[in-house]
Amino acid sequence: SGRVRLISGNWKMNLNHLEAIALVQKLYHLLRPEDFRYAEVGIHPPFTALRSLQLTFEADRMPFTLGAQNCSDEAAGAYTGEVSAPMLAKLGVGYVIVGHSERRRLFHETSELVARKALAVQQAGMHPIVCIGESAQERAAGMTQEVLTAQLSPVLESYPVGAIDGVVIAYEPVWAIGAGEAADPDAVGEITRAIRAFVSERLGEAVGARIRIQYGGSVNVGNARAFMTLDDVDGLLVGGASLDPDAFALLIKSA
Ligand code: G3H
Repeated sequence: SGRVRLISGNWKMNLNHLEAIALVQKLYHLLRPEDFRYAEVGIHPPFTALRSLQLTFEADRMPFTLGAQNCSDEAAGAYTGEVSAPMLAKLGVGYVIVGHSERRRLFHETSELVARKALAVQQAGMHPIVCIGESAQERAAGMTQEVLTAQLSPVLESYPVGAIDGVVIAYEPVWAIGAGEAADPDAVGEITRAIRAFVSERLGEAVGARIRIQYGGSVNVGNARAFMTLDDVDGLLVGGASLDPDAFALLIKSA
């Protein structure tokens, strides 16, 4: 496909900065240079570990890409407790997850806010990983496609067209996150094909062909390859399994 594969580990709210350093050191020693040739590997720790991992990656020349899990849609100002995209860029962050289902659900993030965050990430010179996904109820009601296009549309409408290839879409069915059981690869194949077709329809075939799509939701060593071999899946967004260096290293190798 010509699209660079991207395997991202989303640690969520786990590991302090010392534990974070220990985990990446262990993970790095379990990997060989060729493991990084097949796919780019992103590590998304909590904000508090970003600087430590930036320095660790630099010191030991670890070819991981640093990632964040969220950011503000504002660049600076009186927004107590928030972290801006330019601050993350300054730490060497390459990818920022925006609109994870946990943030949509627990922190009431709307698709419009998520689109503004994606734009802030782009303006700061990084790439957003835009998460979309239907809930169990929406799926049962046969609304999957509508939900996904509604979540994606504000991003496609507001993002600068010339830079849109830099967006990574993460398809994460909410019911498969942390569930221990992933979605069916055939179903993911169909849904990711529809997502790509939707992007093509809105922004043209060339953009549709270049945009990257990840699958996320209970990805593990046993199922990673089945998702990675799907035509329209270019990577994985891994939660739980990325917290175990042995499991994550095997997952990267197996994918
Ligand atoms: O961002 C990662 C996803 O929420 C998946 O989490 O692999 O623990 O199911 P999980």
